[in-house]
Amino acid sequence: MTQYSSQLAGCGEYSATVRAHKEIYTMKRLSSLALIGLIVSFSSSAVEPIQPIAAYQPTDPAKAELGKQLFFDPRLSKSGFISCNSCHNLSMGGSDNMPTSIGHNWTLGPINAPTVLNSSLNVAQFWDGRAKDLQEQAGGPIANPGEMGFSHQLAVEVLETIPGYKQTFKEVFKTEQIGIDQVTEAIAAFEETLVTPNSPFDKYLQGDKDAISADAQAGYALFTSVGCTACHNGQAVGGNSFQKMGLVKPYKTTSKAAGRSAVTGKEIDRFNFKVPTLRNVELTYPYFHDGAVWNLEEAVGVMAELQLGKQLQEQEIAQIVSFLKSLTGDQPNFTLPQLPPSTANTPHPNQS
Ligand code: HEC
Ligand code: HEC
Repeated sequence: MTQYSSQLAGCGEYSATVRAHKEIYTMKRLSSLALIGLIVSFSSSAVEPIQPIAAYQPTDPAKAELGKQLFFDPRLSKSGFISCNSCHNLSMGGSDNMPTSIGHNWTLGPINAPTVLNSSLNVAQFWDGRAKDLQEQAGGPIANPGEMGFSHQLAVEVLETIPGYKQTFKEVFKTEQIGIDQVTEAIAAFEETLVTPNSPFDKYLQGDKDAISADAQAGYALFTSVGCTACHNGQAVGGNSFQKMGLVKPYKTTSKAAGRSAVTGKEIDRFNFKVPTLRNVELTYPYFHDGAVWNLEEAVGVMAELQLGKQLQEQEIAQIVSFLKSLTGDQPNFTLPQLPPSTANTPHPNQS
């Protein structure tokens, strides 16, 4: 276990320790002026602001398969009850459909759980980007007292007592000793498989003009012309920059989340959040970092008003929502992993 990953705040926790984390990737922030520039350049050029999602190309299927087992295994939590899938339910768009998640001992988390679908396309992980990639992220929730409530050491000790895991780790990593870095590497390898290609909208982009309804086509035209694509663009229709929530008008919330400034320590980054992906957004309600908005129509209206200073008509909102619903792609479709049984030596779940 590295010093950093032991300090890394888990999925839902904000911690001052991450302030020390240096910036390792370029943060893109839009001034209103640049935003207008982008809107103009997107609407006047033939270049599509959104690209189809590429299908996953297997690199190491055995590692991803092990990661799938770990993703579903509640024995990585102190209570033996909570797995990654508890909060990133792959039957529900990779989210928990809760305003904020419920973790160890029914702890209510501070922030909405983003989907794990297409998370490999993100510029960084978490709303504030405090983990640089999926592997770094995966260590967080296991040791977060409000989520899986365990420690990396105890999680590894549990796996060490399970012969089925010992064998698989040996095959995949050529090692006799399981380490937390291998656990997180395998989970990340599984998460990389969770892309959702073949949405109706992608088929439309690829030339099948009947793949989406006339309403959805009108919605896409609006989405581009009013300026949503300034922030929601690329394969994931988001996920690739940090932007202020409430660029034109402030967003009112009771959430204490500071956003990107929790990582950079800079006041200017306050309330900047990673722009969420809009892929599968129909499935990942409720919306926004505080999970305050349950319905997509309302979320679109809020965005237009707060980010762009525009009041959209009801019909325009309905068209944009039709477009957004066309972004739902192939959901994970695999055989449920069978988890190797515990043994007499496996520590028992601890509900305290
Ligand atoms: C108790 C609920 C809970 C559990 C269990 C949980 N997560 Fe999360 N996850 C969250 C929340 C909440 C966030 C957002 C936290 C933040 O941004 O500060 C999150 C964020 C993430 C992200 C970042 C996505 C993005 O777009 O930024 C990934 C990836 C992720 N979790 C994967 C996992 C994995 C892998 C596990 C299991 C090892 C796991 N989570 C366990 C609630 C949970
Ligand atoms: C200036 C950048 C910016 C623009 C422009 C923008 N958004 Fe967003 N969008 C964001 C950010 C940042 C968030 C996350 C805000 C939060 O949770 O606090 C977000 C969140 C959303 C969400 C909720 C997604 C979720 O999973 O929680 C939807 C839906 C959305 N935007 C749609 C739109 C639409 C439609 C438009 C155009 C009318 C638009 N956005 C314009 C930056 C932008």
